[in-house]
Amino acid sequence: MKIIPGPASTELGEKISQLTGFDKVNVASRIFPDGESYVRLEGNVQGEHVAIVQTTCAPQDTRLMQLAFLANAAKRNGAKKVTAVVPYLAYARQDKIFLQGETISIEAIANMLHASGIDQLITVNVHAEDALSKFPFPTKTLSAIPLLAQYFVQKGCKKAFALSPDKGAMYIADQAKQVFGGESGHLEKYRDRYTGQTTQTGKHLNVKDQTVVILDDIISTGGTIVGAAKILREQGATHVYTACVHGLLIGDAEKRILDAGVEEIVSTDSVPTKNSKVTLAPLISQELKAQASG
Ligand code: R5P
Repeated sequence: MKIIPGPASTELGEKISQLTGFDKVNVASRIFPDGESYVRLEGNVQGEHVAIVQTTCAPQDTRLMQLAFLANAAKRNGAKKVTAVVPYLAYARQDKIFLQGETISIEAIANMLHASGIDQLITVNVHAEDALSKFPFPTKTLSAIPLLAQYFVQKGCKKAFALSPDKGAMYIADQAKQVFGGESGHLEKYRDRYTGQTTQTGKHLNVKDQTVVILDDIISTGGTIVGAAKILREQGATHVYTACVHGLLIGDAEKRILDAGVEEIVSTDSVPTKNSKVTLAPLISQELKAQASG
């Protein structure tokens, strides 16, 4: 197997190459003055199973095109199998028709990636597994929650309360609970499909005088975490932290979360930012090594 670190995940791709011991094939890339993307493989992939590591956070459409071009280049240059390692999978949240006339965005993306030569997709904590059913080739989603929870244990937050801000993310709180050894719970969240506005409610949680870590797959505008932090304060939590796999942190999200009394924001390098304190490299490397030897 060879690793191709895409332009959106150069550092992560290099770490994966080091951890797995698989050679990497560098990519030359640039954006033309009119906004079009250019990529070129700088090494030999003839007869190889290649893993292209390319996250698809903003600018999502450019990142997706670069991924498609790299897959096309790999196949044109004789790669026998192309695995796309896409830590953050853009458009996965539009995995069904919510309102008449919409598209299933992730289905269109899946077909485009298939046509470009991708044979398999590995992603991390996809928002809903339903999204993966739209891909016409094998897919796998890995979970970074144990790695995020370990970060807090190493920080001394043993027995922290693991909270998910909505019922759908309860599996995330439960995975963190296994590492923390404390309790877990969830809030209720309702989203208005026309305005996008969310409202949250919190039943009584056993968080008085507790350290709480709010865990979610994505933090985007930060509204969900700000709302959850407010409820936790009202219920007497002493220390509140937040962790997510994909820290999109749009606009002033970080400031709003910290202003709401959250002491630290921790995310992974699926979206590289200064909050990416946990790398996905060991998780992805383990999967690729298993595939290469299996
Ligand atoms: C949605 O259900 C996701 O799991 C996240 O809770 C959501 O994307 C967070 O968005 P925001 O940060 O804008 O509240």
